[in-house]
Amino acid sequence: GEVIVEPLIRTTISDDRGEEPRYVGYAASELCEKGYGIEDVIGLLWNKKLPSRQESEILKRIIMISADHGPAVSGAFGSIIAACAGIDMPQAVSAGMTMIGPRFGGAVTNAGKYFKHGVKDFPNDIPGFLSWMKLNVGPVPGIGHRVKSVKNPDKRVKYLVDYVKNSTSLHTPCLDYALEVEKITTAKKDNLILNVDGTIGCILVDLEFPEYSLNGFFVLARTIGMIGHWIDQNNQSARLIRLYDYLINYAVKEEREVPERK
Ligand code: ACO
Ligand code: LMR
Repeated sequence: GEVIVEPLIRTTISDDRGEEPRYVGYAASELCEKGYGIEDVIGLLWNKKLPSRQESEILKRIIMISADHGPAVSGAFGSIIAACAGIDMPQAVSAGMTMIGPRFGGAVTNAGKYFKHGVKDFPNDIPGFLSWMKLNVGPVPGIGHRVKSVKNPDKRVKYLVDYVKNSTSLHTPCLDYALEVEKITTAKKDNLILNVDGTIGCILVDLEFPEYSLNGFFVLARTIGMIGHWIDQNNQSARLIRLYDYLINYAVKEEREVPERK
């Protein structure tokens, strides 16, 4: 008789059983033929919807603007150290990728989540929101930067905010809320600006992307940069990196004799 086997996994996004992959039903080649772009594939595979043209333009800019931020940041630095140790591309990129977390690049999801919470539960009470965050979460995800500040603004943030607000008709309650939060935090400390993670997190919430997808935008974008750094180091045949002693504070015990074993 017929044997019924329980499926091992359930998928709702893609299917390769025909001649080519279908993303949420659409053939990949037909998307190419009809002029869709990588942002539209992201919309399909991460949100199961084809973005409108306006939404695609925003997604494209988010990825372009987050693709790299030079060699000094945790992710690129991790990939560069690995590249210089002779590690192959996938592993070197994953070394950089490992750095994406709550302090660097991986605050997008929680920024979106908590600013959305602020819009809902503390709509006209930003001090209340900040006290709640301090008590329940810690540093506000999406706020703060090591080098960018009111005096040294982050052009990427300014550009994205300006683009979304002045060149699109997107309704932006989450972004607007975060910008109000920034006014209060920067009054306390100059570098407590709305950062790239916070800005893209809020825009993505306003675009109704699912919460779990948000960090994916930084991960995807920064992969472009990390691959670039790996290629760059290899093109230069860069040597193994070893930290010079002057870059290390050896806060250690003085040399001393090992006692006789009792
Ligand atoms: N919310 C509240 N207070 C903050 C925040 C924040 N997000 N960030 C820093 N502070 C406060 C600290 O409590 C500290 O206060 P104190 O001087 O009274 O002790 C002061 O500001 C300085 O904090 P540091 O941790 O020394 O700042 P640092 O420059 O090391 O940190 C960082 C930068 C890691 C980005 C920090 O601001 C942070 O954790 N932000 C939240 C996470 C985040 O959004 N990360 C993404 C950054 S953008 C990117 O990676 C692409
Ligand atoms: C980045 O995009 O990597 C950052 O904003 C972090 C940084 O310190 O520049």
